[in-house]
Amino acid sequence: MPKLNINIDHIATLRQARLGEEPDPVFIAFLSELAGANAIVVHLREDRRHIQDRDVYSLKKTVKTKLNLEMAPTDQMLDLALDLKPDMVTIVPENRQELTTEGGYNVIKNKNRLTKIIKQLKSHNIVTSLFIDPDKSQIETSKEINADIVEIHTGEYAKSNKDINKQKIQLQNIIESVNFAKSIDIKVAAGHGLDYSNTKDIALIDAIEELNIGYSIICRSIVTGIERAVREMVEICNIR
Ligand code: PXP
Repeated sequence: MPKLNINIDHIATLRQARLGEEPDPVFIAFLSELAGANAIVVHLREDRRHIQDRDVYSLKKTVKTKLNLEMAPTDQMLDLALDLKPDMVTIVPENRQELTTEGGYNVIKNKNRLTKIIKQLKSHNIVTSLFIDPDKSQIETSKEINADIVEIHTGEYAKSNKDINKQKIQLQNIIESVNFAKSIDIKVAAGHGLDYSNTKDIALIDAIEELNIGYSIICRSIVTGIERAVREMVEICNIR
């Protein structure tokens, strides 16, 4: 069954709405771990719209499972990652105008830059994941440049929930991509837009080892509390 990693960005979104102290991502990370999270994920965006530098340094000291830092592959972010030394870095595309990450990173187009970044991260013992679209050539290139993990973007699948046929096609594409990644021996994670109704079919895909989920769990936590929201998603992941 896939392990569940909890993205807590939107705890910081709420805090930043008033530029206050609460809610505290460190506390929520702690409760998420108690409820069964396999790792804590945070995206330190260049515009610092939610997670702040002090959050990642506090989480580095307090997270007991694994800390996965999502970041754009810029020089400044690379310097920060090498200083912070999270357990894992996920490279994501970033665009100032977007509400959330809109698609996978184009590994083929940015192959040379990524090759250098992966080499540096790995020389500091940081596991490196690339967030990419479900596309065989992107997966092949990720393997070629030595990424440890590919995280398959499930956003298009999630967005097509109003059109069953379209969603089936998206799901099939994810299944084929995941199986291809497994066949060339690269570890697979998946995430983006997953919620309490669309996660089951993704969790059923055998070769997916980890799921990264944030928004839907944080939304549910407002009603149920974070521990119950995490446990309910862990149960869905336990389907296999
Ligand atoms: N994976 C990646 C690479 C992401 O950027 C995000 C959003 O920050 C997620 C997973 C989680 O997406 P969601 O918040 O829609 O569950």
